[in-house]
Parts: sequence; structure tokens; C-alpha cells
Amino acid sequence: MGKERRKVETKYRLVSFFSGIGGFDLGFERAGFEIVYQCEINDFCNRILEQHWPDVPRSKDIRRVNHEEIPDADVWAAGFPCQDVSLARMGPRSGLRGKQSGLFYDFARVIGDALPGVVLIENVAGLLSSHGGRDFQVVIRTLAELGYAVGWRVFNSKNFGVAQSRQRVYIVGCHRDWRTAAEILFEPQRGKRNADSRGQNGQESVSPFKKSFGDPVRGPVVQGLAYCFYACSARHTGTDWSRTYVTYPEGRVRRLTPREGEAIQGFPVNWTLPKDAIEDSEDLDALRYHAVGNAVTVNVAEWLAQRIADALAQSSAEPAAARLPDSDGVLQGTAR
Ligand SMILES: C[S@@+](CC[C@H](N)C(=O)[O-])C[C@H]1O[C@@H](n2cnc3c(N)ncnc32)[C@H](O)[C@@H]1O
Repeated sequence: MGKERRKVETKYRLVSFFSGIGGFDLGFERAGFEIVYQCEINDFCNRILEQHWPDVPRSKDIRRVNHEEIPDADVWAAGFPCQDVSLARMGPRSGLRGKQSGLFYDFARVIGDALPGVVLIENVAGLLSSHGGRDFQVVIRTLAELGYAVGWRVFNSKNFGVAQSRQRVYIVGCHRDWRTAAEILFEPQRGKRNADSRGQNGQESVSPFKKSFGDPVRGPVVQGLAYCFYACSARHTGTDWSRTYVTYPEGRVRRLTPREGEAIQGFPVNWTLPKDAIEDSEDLDALRYHAVGNAVTVNVAEWLAQRIADALAQSSAEPAAARLPDSDGVLQGTAR
């Protein structure tokens, strides 16, 4: 199951946009960041954010955000809507020209006005190929033109201790600093957070999914890993959720519950259960599936947050001139 929320000493500050149910916020909080501002348009997500961060100022629509209302922060994080660049979409992808994914330009406008030190973006891996790679180029170039040196890397959530195969691209931009994005994204050696998902010393490891939900006697019997948990509704019968079945010895088959979805995304159990739920259970499940499927995996967010905190501590200890770029930006990327 996902880790519970815990209080740690805070040192750095995070602003999140397209905050959803707070996947970035929770991961950064676990790494010692204070959440100082959120921006999210969806009513259900706002109820969940309000439940967990009642004192954090929040705006609804990024198209109306003025940078002057945003508190100072070390890092801005955002997973802008992916519908128009996702490979899961049926038919042509409208890419960054689409109504949803085009909100990236609103994010870029506010970045340009405030120029935060570090920007972190998460999106579906389809962003890399949308419009033959031109949409990704636009994202990188836009940040570079604002003075950010940019790095990116594809991470799979299954390598971060959750039982879900979920590939996403993570983009880090550091303002007028050519070194730090690479230091954040690329570790020189395998560390403990980057442990091999196979067992130690040749032993087969028990997958977190099995540990979480399996019961050798009564079931359910579960696969080692869940396929990527997509935003979908409780009534949905398409192919995405149905690739992850939970089966019982007597033959019963079911989809994941919202609680199990939360767990394979790294959230504590019932993170998305509103205290004041008024919907009937099917409608509520639909809202929860959708929000959890849209979220960033908390464990990946926490890993990145820790890397960013380490880099911030390191860069404050050396003269800024050491990190100034001699050209417009540094472009680098890889997949793991
Ligand atoms: C891919 S999800 C990000 C989820 C988030 N990272 C999380 O961990 O839950 C994109 C989010 O952008 C929100 N959104 C869409 N249009 C928006 C707008 N105009 N202003 C602010 N948020 C918006 C959606 O409601 C959705 O929650």
C-alpha cells in the first residue's frame, strides 16, 4: 500500500500547476518541500486538494493566472493535460494545438513572467512523438528561449517501488544554469531509490502488487504488475483497464478498485475518498478512477524532489557563475 503522509522539516518550496489530486505535491512534501500554491480546474480534484492542503492558496484556471498572485518558490511542477498528445487517443492527435495540451502555452506564459529557478514537467511518452517530434521540440525550445537549460528522461513507475508499468517523460529546466538539470535526472550510479525490481542474490522478489493485494489461500490472484492505470470511468468497458485483471481461485474476475489504483500510483489508501462524499458509489468510483489515472506516480515525484533538493543544496554552496550557460540551452535526453 502507499506510504502514509508524514511531517518532515521543510526547506524548499513548491508551486504546482494542473495539480490534479496532488501527486507532485505529495511526493515533494515527502522530500521535505512546503507546498505554497496550487492551480487546478476540476471540481472533484479541488475537493481532494482542499482536504489534504486546506491552507494552501489555490487558483482554478491557469488561463486566468497572474504571476503576481503566486508566492515565491524554488520549484514549479506541472503535468499539463495529455489528451491531445497521448498514444491512447483514438484517431489523429492534435498535439499542442489541441485545446487541452495547448494549455502548455499558458504555463509557459506564467513561467516567462516569474522565471522560477527550477521547472519540472511530466507528460505521457507520446509527447516525444506527437507531430513527428515537433511538439516536444516546441516544449524544449520554449523553455530554452526563456533561459532554461533543459534535460529530460523517460522513467517507468515500476522501477520506483510500485506495481505498475507506467512510462512517462519528465522534463527538468533550470534557469540560467547549464549543469543542474542533468545532475537531477541522471545519477552516476545506481542508488537505493533506483533498486533493481528483481530479487536480491538471485531470489525472486515478491512484487509490491502481490504483497499489497494477494492472499495465497483466498485470493485474489494478481499479476506481477498492473498495466498503466489510465484515466477512465467506472462504467468503462474498453481495453485499457481490462488489461489488468484481479482473479479469484473460484473464477471471479474483477478490475482494480479505486483503492488499489491509488496504491499502484503510490498514494495512501483512500486519498481520493472525499470526507463529505454525496455521490452514489458508482459515480464516486468514476471520479476516483479518472483522477488517479491522470495523476503522476507519487514515488517518482518523491525521487525527483529529493534529487532537486540535493541539487539546490549543492548549487547554493557554489558561485552562481559556475553554472551560467555559454549558449541558449543544453538539450539532452534518454530513457530508462
Ligand atoms: C494530467 S492531469 C495532472 C494530474 C496531477 N499531476 C496529479 O498528480 O494528480 C492534468 C490536470 O490539469 C487540469 N486542468 C485542465 N485544464 C486546466 C486549466 N485550464 N487550469 C488548471 N488546471 C487544468 C485537469 O483537471 C487535470 O487534473
